[in-house]
Amino acid sequence: MATRIGKVTDIGAGGMRAFNVGGRKVAVANVAGRFYGFDDTCTHMGCSLAAGDLDGTTVTCACHGSEYDVTTGAVLEGPAEDPVNTWAVQVDGDDLTVGP
Ligand code: FES
Repeated sequence: MATRIGKVTDIGAGGMRAFNVGGRKVAVANVAGRFYGFDDTCTHMGCSLAAGDLDGTTVTCACHGSEYDVTTGAVLEGPAEDPVNTWAVQVDGDDLTVGP
């Protein structure tokens, strides 16, 4: 079942925010009005990716510079080696939902 996490207006274009979804931290990025969800926890040493920088569809971890593609979770640049899980984010009226 999809989980409501917030409002569309909570994340401006080019922005990111982390939400608690059933005990997991999920980051959501707004890329030109499209929303992409991925695990907020960097697979390198666990920093919050939502606290990093978003440039187009690339998120850069603020801790040691790992880069991920927010659309796939793939690592684009180390030191991280493992991808992050992605989450399907839907827009339901004014609400953002993730899951199932
Ligand atoms: S914790 Fe993200 S690059 Fe090290």
